[in-house]
Amino acid sequence: MILPTLLTFLSALHVSHASVTVYHQAPMAAQSAAANYTAPAAYDPTILNAPPIPNPAPSVQFTLELQSSSQAVQGLSIVQNGPFLGFSIETSVVNQVRELKIEFKHSSFLQVPFLNLMANIGQRAGSVHIRIGGNTQETATLVASIPDGKAIEKDKVSASNPTRTPGLLFTAEIIYMLANISALAKVKWYLGVPFNDTANLRLQIAEVGQAILGDNLIGLQVGNEPDLYSAHGHRPATYSPFDYFGEFGTMVQAINNDANIPAKNKLIGPSVATGPWTPEMVWDTGFISSYTNSLAALAVEHYPDDNCAAMYGLGSPKDPQTEFPNYLNHTAGKSLIAPYLNSASIAQAAGKPLLMFETNSASCGGFPGISDAFGSALWALDYGLQMAYSNFSGALFHVGGQNVYYNVCCFVSPPTNQSTFHKWTIGPIYYSILISAETFGPNGNSQIIDLNANNANAFTPAYAIYEGGNIARVALFNYMTDQSGANSYTATISVGGGQTGAPNGTPAQVKVKYLIAPSVAEKHNITWAGQTFGSTFESDGRLMGNLDVNTVTCDTNANTCQVQVPAPGFALVFLTDSAFSEVTPENPKTFPTTSMTRTLNTATVDPSVLATSNGHSGSDRNKLGSTGKGRANGAESLREVVPGIFVLLAMGLGAVMAGSGIARLGRVHV
Ligand SMILES: *[C@@H]1O[C@H](CO)[C@@H](O)[C@H](O)[C@H]1NC(C)=O
Ligand SMILES: *[C@@H]1O[C@H](CO)[C@@H](O)[C@H](O)[C@H]1NC(C)=O
Ligand SMILES: *[C@@H]1O[C@H](CO)[C@@H](O)[C@H](O)[C@H]1NC(C)=O
Ligand SMILES: *[C@@H]1O[C@H](CO)[C@@H](O)[C@H](O)[C@H]1NC(C)=O
Ligand SMILES: *[C@@H]1O[C@H](CO)[C@@H](O)[C@H](O)[C@H]1NC(C)=O
Ligand SMILES: *[C@@H]1O[C@H](CO)[C@@H](O)[C@H](O)[C@H]1NC(C)=O
Ligand SMILES: *[C@@H]1O[C@H](CO)[C@@H](O)[C@H](O)[C@H]1NC(C)=O
Repeated sequence: MILPTLLTFLSALHVSHASVTVYHQAPMAAQSAAANYTAPAAYDPTILNAPPIPNPAPSVQFTLELQSSSQAVQGLSIVQNGPFLGFSIETSVVNQVRELKIEFKHSSFLQVPFLNLMANIGQRAGSVHIRIGGNTQETATLVASIPDGKAIEKDKVSASNPTRTPGLLFTAEIIYMLANISALAKVKWYLGVPFNDTANLRLQIAEVGQAILGDNLIGLQVGNEPDLYSAHGHRPATYSPFDYFGEFGTMVQAINNDANIPAKNKLIGPSVATGPWTPEMVWDTGFISSYTNSLAALAVEHYPDDNCAAMYGLGSPKDPQTEFPNYLNHTAGKSLIAPYLNSASIAQAAGKPLLMFETNSASCGGFPGISDAFGSALWALDYGLQMAYSNFSGALFHVGGQNVYYNVCCFVSPPTNQSTFHKWTIGPIYYSILISAETFGPNGNSQIIDLNANNANAFTPAYAIYEGGNIARVALFNYMTDQSGANSYTATISVGGGQTGAPNGTPAQVKVKYLIAPSVAEKHNITWAGQTFGSTFESDGRLMGNLDVNTVTCDTNANTCQVQVPAPGFALVFLTDSAFSEVTPENPKTFPTTSMTRTLNTATVDPSVLATSNGHSGSDRNKLGSTGKGRANGAESLREVVPGIFVLLAMGLGAVMAGSGIARLGRVHV
């Protein structure tokens, strides 16, 4: 966003071929010796107060009368896909190369928790969408090789440029890594094409990206927040939407002339921050009609607020407690989207998807106590569903690392030199993305409508989701916090105007999954259908605990189903068996963490081995049985799963990594 978020793409993905896990300290982080680890910013303990119950309080009883067939419903969204919500990861990792802590030689390693987190979503949504890009994409260059065999490195020559955006060099190995992730966890990628110098275009990422990723490359972003280029000193002060239009045309022509880029129609623009320019200012240049044959999608980027004062001393300071209520009602998402409703209909008329390419609760790292608390899970899910209802076709939440103060939206890997004894931390918005996958399902034929529930009360919004033309699910939110139960509500759902029984009337019973926490301010005790990713440093990317699904028996005389929603909470109501089963994996595909020593419980997997193994499910794992008796003894049950997986013997402290690389990696025989 306004200042590039410093990110840890590489701490999410321990890349190597001789490289790198990069960790850059948080500006305000205190770092102590390992045994007395002091958490960096991502683990800020700030807990806010939940806002009081609104006055007047919303009614705690309301009815939702639904049509069984979409044909009778006015105002349904366009057709939506399972991976509607995805992730955006800044390319700029390499900002942190100075802080290199780990260097492996000769091979690539993927982080198991990351693979699990992606597989969870892929299994429910059919695929996962991730964008690698951001401000740093503009000055990145894909090169044939980097001395020392590194896969990614900060370009030392451009590092001193006054805008502080580092040039970034990377090799095809990074693209192979993405391909490996795709093979393992159904991830599809958006990549950014460098656009800082349209007189000397660098198209290698498009060429190599298409060659290696094929159909798993779903878009190439051309220009990131061009409305901020002049403010950031990347273009002259006069830079206008028409200048962007012209430069985009230069790119289109170059790609059309490049035989090594076979698919010409993958481009994405204009990705305005909606700061100095509105999207309409770009549409008015003739952008869409001129480049329709090249455009895969149209995009915008936006954050509702910023925390730049706390992070960088820019602008006026904001008090998180004062900001908190702004995230805790249905108006929040609606007002964020209002400036784009016209663009959504322009996009639809042009037959192009409209994407929210980068967003989150606040730029400059988010707010402590908001961005990392349960309330933001409700906010992000409601905002996401509102975008879907408003005819966006996807939205990507920007993922921060722990080195970005407060920014713990989705998932954070532990600091490199702590990763031997700390596991990952899963932020609240990861739950939102997972649940949106269940809300839309894997079939790519869902439509959603905002029900204006409870007389359009802003604290109790609800949506209905149709799949293949039939009512499938209902999503119910309660933004209030009241542990007494007095503000839990009961939604009385009926289908088909009084007809009995599926498929045309009210079902005899429905299943309900709850997303709950004791308060919107809660950071640790968050569960989805009884399962959790745990608190700080507790996750290996798999849901923990037993699946807990409520069955509600409906009143077949009255043709009503009564579903309760606690304060705070979210309920996803499944109106048919298939609506439930298709998003409730019986054998979650996971990549168990594997390790060989008593204290070490973070492992990495050689992707080329796993790629051919096609991953392993929990059930496979059981069949394989334990051969690691007496050795494997980490926090989860650690077993060797895949013949030939290299596991990390000593990923910690000192000894490690320093150079001998593979010699320190163990090989597990099953
Ligand atoms: C971990 O890294 C930090 C930052 O570089 C350093 O200050 C600290 O001493 C390291 N801890 C250990 C146990 O190596
Ligand atoms: C951790 O803290 C304890 C007590 O505060 C101290 O005795 C110990 O030496 C510390 N350990 C390290 C590795 O600094
Ligand atoms: C664009 O970025 C590349 C790579 O960092 C750099 O070499 C080049 O000088 C930049 N061009 C302009 C016009 O800024
Ligand atoms: C995984 O990456 C390696 C290079 O590191 C590459 O040779 C291989 O083709 C990749 N596998 C897939 C399935 O993309
Ligand atoms: C609801 O959210 C909006 C937008 O974020 C905010 O302006 C408004 O004050 C909130 N309403 C209440 C009653 O908190
Ligand atoms: C979304 O598009 C559909 C189909 O064109 C339309 O009926 C609906 O009104 C649109 N929704 C909004 C919120 O504009
Ligand atoms: C976690 O939150 C639930 C309500 O969401 C509550 O019932 C439970 O007691 C809490 N558990 C702990 C350990 O605080």
